[in-house]
Amino acid sequence: MSDGHIRLNRFEQRVVAQADEILSRMTLDEKVGQMNQLDPRWNREIDKLVRQSKVGSVLSIRSVSEINRLQRVAVEETRLGIPLLVGNDVIHGYRTIFPIPLAESCTWDPDLVERAARIAADEAAASGTDWIFAPMVDICRDPRWGRIAEGAGEDPTLGQAMARARVRGFQADGLAGERRIAACPKHYVAYGAAEAGKDYNTVDISERTLRDVFLPPFWAAIDEGAASIMSAFNEISGIPASANPFTLREVLRQEWDFEGVVLSDYNAVGELVAHGFAADLREAALRAVLAGIDMDMMGHAFPEHLVALVEEGAVPLSLVDDAVRRILCLKIALGLFERPYTDEGLEAQFILREDHRHAALDVARKSIVLLKNEGPILPLRTTKIALIGPLADDRAAPLGCWHCEGRPEDVETVLDGIRAVRPGCAVEFVEGCTVADDALDQVEDAVRAARQAEAAVLVLGENERMSGEARSRAYLGLPGRQQELLEAVVASGTPVVCVLMSGRPLVIPWMAEHVPAIVQAWHGGIRAGRAVADILFGEVNPSGKLTASFPRTVGQIPVYYGHKSTGRPFLGEGTVQFEQAYRSNYIDESNRPLYPFGYGLSYTTFAYKDLNVETPVVGMEDTLVVSATVTNEGELPGDEVVQLYVQDLVGSVTRPVKELKGFERLSLAAGESASVRFEVPISELGFHGLVLEYGVEAGAFKVWIGPDAESGLEAAFTVSAG
Ligand code: NOJ
Repeated sequence: MSDGHIRLNRFEQRVVAQADEILSRMTLDEKVGQMNQLDPRWNREIDKLVRQSKVGSVLSIRSVSEINRLQRVAVEETRLGIPLLVGNDVIHGYRTIFPIPLAESCTWDPDLVERAARIAADEAAASGTDWIFAPMVDICRDPRWGRIAEGAGEDPTLGQAMARARVRGFQADGLAGERRIAACPKHYVAYGAAEAGKDYNTVDISERTLRDVFLPPFWAAIDEGAASIMSAFNEISGIPASANPFTLREVLRQEWDFEGVVLSDYNAVGELVAHGFAADLREAALRAVLAGIDMDMMGHAFPEHLVALVEEGAVPLSLVDDAVRRILCLKIALGLFERPYTDEGLEAQFILREDHRHAALDVARKSIVLLKNEGPILPLRTTKIALIGPLADDRAAPLGCWHCEGRPEDVETVLDGIRAVRPGCAVEFVEGCTVADDALDQVEDAVRAARQAEAAVLVLGENERMSGEARSRAYLGLPGRQQELLEAVVASGTPVVCVLMSGRPLVIPWMAEHVPAIVQAWHGGIRAGRAVADILFGEVNPSGKLTASFPRTVGQIPVYYGHKSTGRPFLGEGTVQFEQAYRSNYIDESNRPLYPFGYGLSYTTFAYKDLNVETPVVGMEDTLVVSATVTNEGELPGDEVVQLYVQDLVGSVTRPVKELKGFERLSLAAGESASVRFEVPISELGFHGLVLEYGVEAGAFKVWIGPDAESGLEAAFTVSAG
């Protein structure tokens, strides 16, 4: 746990007593007012409503003077003077924009991710935000879903590590104790399992998969002290997540003993009507509050109906009291009663500070994944480059989705980066085409520039509006006419490097076959271009590893490493062959992803040897200890993310073919070796078995230590019943 890290879902007796004292003086109207969150952008009467004590929280305002003005109305012009909570979407930075969370997860470096979250929280707090609607901890195995950009990818173990890191970062004792921030992990739960990757779509999922895959990152965030949680838009097997007594009461409150605030997503309570789960807004309010929602974000259901529902006896007053007590406890714990206003001089001290910009560069460099490097063509040694593509000098795309206060003028493009890193290199820049529409006017110029250069660097992919909320895609190739541009430049015969900027894994089989080097740069934040240039010219050795598999074709989705064996596992490579007919595979495509989970290259090479299972037989209370030696066999220093996987061979229910159970980022000088030793408590090898209780089952396991989910050294161990 980092210094100053605060748990905001377990309150001291003093805080609860203060909340109860305020509660004892509140009318029912005032209580229900606390349970209402409004977006002032869509409400002209906001001052009046705050003055009438009808609002407990606001979202999406970021002008510190406006926040202070509204706060003054709440504190000075209402009977009880209860301050507002100000919530904002600070997903990967406030003004200093970091790489999108999917990219950040490719660093496999929780400490770095914690630092990024802390910087985001400091900037947000300096600007008047109290509550951050993040981390987004939805597991996602479908890159059609645009919100894959906001999370940590496909794996629950990595997802838990990233969830913890972000909560620690956000809730650290920010601005040197001046202000505090509450985190809000979202979207509870299984939002990332939307059918066909279509946003807001139906989720039908077994309780076992829910518990083994989708719930763990939420549990981790709460265990780390997250103040609140946001309920999702989707239904879960017929019951909308924002009125789901099983997930909200049974799991969250009873099993996990969560005492923090439950906030609905934007109008998720109102949408219970469209779901066909409530006949009208009144019934929506009833079902949501009974299920356990404490605060209604923009659904207007609580403010319009909750008072009457309590008066009629349909909703017990104690339920409202519990919700309001939690909200008040949070406001008290954040120090809002003592310091409701934000010093308007703070922003200037924190926003875009040099150390923040440097941290953004550090994260961007470590999040880039080298997918291919034949030759090796990289690092570039050329002095004459054709820089081609619609994203090569685009200042908006690297900001990615949900870029909060991020501004294009803060962004360094790849063109800027190359000029900064190699001022002597001759660069001819040709846009070639646009990202999304049919304009392909400059293809001839691009080909001519490529012919005249020693290497062509193409910067292609998605713009910032193609991923994030409501940005599902059915086709995952390069949008617009970028593929044509790419093929024309490759046909010029000049060696090509592709830099891909995207909010998700794209489907790039042609590129993987015909382009010698591919650099997956994601939407890398304000320092993206500089980080890309550092990688292209070898100032930095790439070290990122994928946290979501790259499919070969949309038809393979969902394709992820932790799948089940099936009764007819496919045993080989490629598509179906005669001796492998009637197995679980395609007749026209391989089962394997194009690039697997955990994969990423370096400019040096790492060799794995001496796998040693120090504990070949382990008891239930013991710790598995496995080690291996990793050697940097190349001529450059480099970082390697070493991964530990296990397979539980036989269970009371079927188990995944591999599960990540540990990882470590190593820095090795050229020629250097290190021993990596993983210690995994056996209790972490459990799952929800036949009767849906979490437990470890005795028996045989396989274990791997390796560079990705598809390779590595293999051994075995046994868990004994004792
Ligand atoms: C809807 C999104 O689903 C959620 O992630 C976000 O926090 C809220 N809107 C508030 O902007």
